[in-house]
Amino acid sequence: MSAFVSVAYVLVTFTLVVLFFSSRRLIADKAKLNELLHSPAQTLEQTILETNSVVGIKRNGRTDYIIPKEFTSRVMNDDRTFNFDRGLAKLLNLQLVLKLHGGTFFKDMQEIVLEFFVRRLATTVTQIYPVFQKHAQQLKEQHPPVDLTVHAQKAMSEAMMLVLFGQDYVNEDDCQAATNLSEDIAEFVGILQNQAWFSRNFPRLWHLVTWVRVGVFRIALGFGMSIGLRLWSDISHLSENPEEKKTNPTILPILVDRYRSPDGAIPVTSKLWIMVLLTTGVFGSTRQIATNIVGVVFYLALNPDYQTILREEIRSLRRVDSHPNLQTLKHAIQTDSFIREVFRMKGDALTAVRMTTCDVPLGEHIIPKNHLVFPMTYMCNRSAPAGECSDKFQGMRWVSTRWSADKVDAGYLPFGLGKWACPGRALAIAVIKIFLFTTFPDAELELQGQTYTVADRSYMASLPPKGHLLIKSL
Ligand code: HEM
Repeated sequence: MSAFVSVAYVLVTFTLVVLFFSSRRLIADKAKLNELLHSPAQTLEQTILETNSVVGIKRNGRTDYIIPKEFTSRVMNDDRTFNFDRGLAKLLNLQLVLKLHGGTFFKDMQEIVLEFFVRRLATTVTQIYPVFQKHAQQLKEQHPPVDLTVHAQKAMSEAMMLVLFGQDYVNEDDCQAATNLSEDIAEFVGILQNQAWFSRNFPRLWHLVTWVRVGVFRIALGFGMSIGLRLWSDISHLSENPEEKKTNPTILPILVDRYRSPDGAIPVTSKLWIMVLLTTGVFGSTRQIATNIVGVVFYLALNPDYQTILREEIRSLRRVDSHPNLQTLKHAIQTDSFIREVFRMKGDALTAVRMTTCDVPLGEHIIPKNHLVFPMTYMCNRSAPAGECSDKFQGMRWVSTRWSADKVDAGYLPFGLGKWACPGRALAIAVIKIFLFTTFPDAELELQGQTYTVADRSYMASLPPKGHLLIKSL
């Protein structure tokens, strides 16, 4: 009996000691997480500078590795050791999607974006400019302060519905469904995960609940029932009437050609795959443009000197072209430089991710297999080739250089780097310019309280800053 009591005593003591230390570890992790949410860039930068090595951070049930800038090019380009697909899929809660269709999700997305958006960017710009003009007018009629995020997302949804599916889909209900979808995707891929107690502490359960609640009910059933069914029948119609493809300017003929079987029909599985690509990929990305419109406009609102420079440039270009096109936007070099500098300096901590495919030695550390690795975007963005005072915001620093806002580099990571760098970046920059062209030349911008807040710097590309914008007509 006494032996039993002794064993029980040892076991209880051992358990208490483990609990004590694990709760201390948990508190330490929570403190780290708090840093990551609110001031991660500077904190991590300090840690990496002090140790000049890889830093491991526990969050959302994983250990992620942040790497110093000397390893950035290697990690971003060596796809065999630092895998893009699996890394992004894990980060975005899309591992299941990678199990479908031979794991081609990101490759398919890349090719579709290049074929549909990039090749016909000039047409897209001309098509969506009037949409933004209309929304700019509505914005000016609103009582200040305005919620720019809601406004940018609405304009973006309408523009995307028009470009992707054509005029038949441009109505209030469909555009609202597209806006809701973008929001749902953001939630689905975990943009808000760092912020909620439940998702931080029970990441696996959170993933499961989110798949069912958002993935199945809101995206598959909600969007599927409202727009998905019509798209389904439009796709069937095009595959049965191939002669109509030539006159159809939407994304559907491209998808039909891509996924039809040799007899011309589109199998049900391919139609489902098209829905997956359209919903998760395309609509998820449009939210990023809306978010970054807000980021650029807020920077402008805080910098009246740059407002004067950009207003002059845009006004003079609009005098030459009353209907601005892609070439007009390309001539806006000061605006382009300002946008690049905002993207460089807005303070994203982490933007791109890769996953190790084996245990990889990096400096003095070995990063274990199947772990997420993040280049330290904040530090990379403040390094060469920004030149003198690369840690200072200088909106016109890129004007007479070859570095346009959509050009990626190891010192400019908002769109990633290497073969997987964002294929939608030229579209994103063009849309941000369209927004400035249509909204800003006749207005003065100010932020209430001269400030805005950022909820989570790890997701700044998809999580709009919060602030109250005042727009005064000139
Ligand atoms: C300002 C807006 C945007 C930002 C900041 C952004 C940022 C990024 C980043 C950081 C990556 C990862 C790259 C890497 O790891 O090397 C990425 C990938 C990707 N982006 Fe974007 N993106 C934006 C807009 C868009 C748009 C509008 C589209 C589509 C129309 C798009 C489509 C994609 C796709 C398909 C990928 C996966 C990589 C690939 O397939 O090549 N993005 N984006």
